[in-house]
Amino acid sequence: MTNSSRMLCSQLQGRVMSAAEAAALIPAGATLGMSGFTGAGYPKAIPQALARRMREFQSRGEEFKVNLWTGASTAPELDGLLAEVGGISSRLPFQSDPLCRQQINDGRIEYLDLHLSEVSQYVWSGFLGNLDIAVIEVTAITEEGLLVPSSSVGNNKTWMEQAKKIILEVNHQQPLQLQGMHDIYYGTALPPHRLPIAVTQPDDRIGETLFRCPLEKVIAVVETSAPDRNSAFAPIDDNSRQIAGHILEFFDHEVKRGRLPKELLPIQSGVGNIPNAVLDGLNSGPYRNLTAFTEVIQDGMLAMLKSGTLRVASATSFSLSPEGIREFTDNIDFYRERIILRQQDISNHPELARRLGVIAMNGLLEADIYGNVNSTHVMGTRMMNGIGGAGDFARNGYLSIFMTPSTAKGGTISSIVPMVSHVDQTEHDVKVIVTEQGLADLRGLSPKQRARLIIENCAHPDFRDELWDYFERACAIGAGLHTPHILSEALSWHERYEKHGTMHRLRGLKSTA
Ligand code: COA
Repeated sequence: MTNSSRMLCSQLQGRVMSAAEAAALIPAGATLGMSGFTGAGYPKAIPQALARRMREFQSRGEEFKVNLWTGASTAPELDGLLAEVGGISSRLPFQSDPLCRQQINDGRIEYLDLHLSEVSQYVWSGFLGNLDIAVIEVTAITEEGLLVPSSSVGNNKTWMEQAKKIILEVNHQQPLQLQGMHDIYYGTALPPHRLPIAVTQPDDRIGETLFRCPLEKVIAVVETSAPDRNSAFAPIDDNSRQIAGHILEFFDHEVKRGRLPKELLPIQSGVGNIPNAVLDGLNSGPYRNLTAFTEVIQDGMLAMLKSGTLRVASATSFSLSPEGIREFTDNIDFYRERIILRQQDISNHPELARRLGVIAMNGLLEADIYGNVNSTHVMGTRMMNGIGGAGDFARNGYLSIFMTPSTAKGGTISSIVPMVSHVDQTEHDVKVIVTEQGLADLRGLSPKQRARLIIENCAHPDFRDELWDYFERACAIGAGLHTPHILSEALSWHERYEKHGTMHRLRGLKSTA
């Protein structure tokens, strides 16, 4: 094959091939470091060709599985497809595909749920063993063999540096104007050789716009033309609007008290309906010239950049709806001046989150009356998605806000519980909890003070009395104890509510238990 308009490197010319030919270079049992973060910038053709190859092996009665590492979640044509053919033996560091989730919880996939900022350090330190092949989507390859990154950066730099071999997918649908948006930092090192990361403002650039690529490791270049996954956002519902309202009121209050500047501090926002409602609320409010130091750019951030509410956004990836993608591509020159895409060990760097004083806003499954948060394990045992970047920002930010509707599963399960069934963020890292019922500012409060505030402000009225009853009995039994609990009851609460929830759902009733 000859060079195309996007593969200009003559040194790689002989290595251009089809996805099937490239997939044939991947052996069973390989550990693959693929690009991809929240459905952006993942390889599109090779995973599909690999799934076909796995099927062929299986039809001959031979097993073909790989260990799959990425930046974060990908898309049905990567995670979903490889899971469908039973081709994943282990997976890290984050995923949200329903079929993968099922196989993780069935014990068919070994899942390592890691802080996203830490993955590259794990790999560089050798904690995870060898990386065989990096499979990376890029926008273009220059004459010199430098790579124009795609719509996410994630762990790609680490994958290419650490893998024995590299396969590149050049995606002709990624806009060429992405070039210049990235900031790839080559100054990272392992301790004791680390130096300070010189980012003092979210818009500081400290790196290069193109990936360096060890060309001798490249075994295949595949040209593709396929869009990123993009899922539409649900319209903003009442709960999300109310949660956003409480957070905005809180910001106003903090600004008036002089505890936040009028441009706030750099915001970090998880992805989903509630975070999007908060961004929408910020965009309609009085704030201007805000900054974001976050992981993912979603639709709400584009709107904020467009209106001037947001001055700049630093992230590692996009997570846009179809309309968001259209808006972005139609106005890419505008956004390129205002968006910086970094590798995830920098976008989520704890040192930077602490220095910049990030306002972290993330979701949860359940919070307990003392402020511990579970954002990953349903009933303490079943993996939902993973901790993602929430811990990177929550522990180190200036403010860590966790938000959730006060109930789940049609009102049958309380999101506020006596004791979380699994802990992702401890009471020490959770500064504010907010539900549609209200907001609990936990800063400066002892455990019992926190419990009173969380029950009163955040719990749903259907569950409030029961939580008060639990707390008061725990206080009476454990008079004088620092964090009173009735252990046998605290955990059986979850089982009771799961049973009640199921029962009430089946009957189409609302729980009054
Ligand atoms: N018990 C049981 N199930 C619960 C529950 C609870 N207490 N709370 C929520 N759920 C279920 C919901 O019913 C829903 O299930 P469904 O898909 O079968 O309908 C599912 O969990 C997701 O809940 P939803 O209300 O849709 O929340 P969400 O989309 O806002 O996601 C998290 C919430 C916690 C799953 C999500 O924020 C997450 O994965 N967080 C961890 C990673 C993270 O914070 N990333 C951002 C860092 S940059």
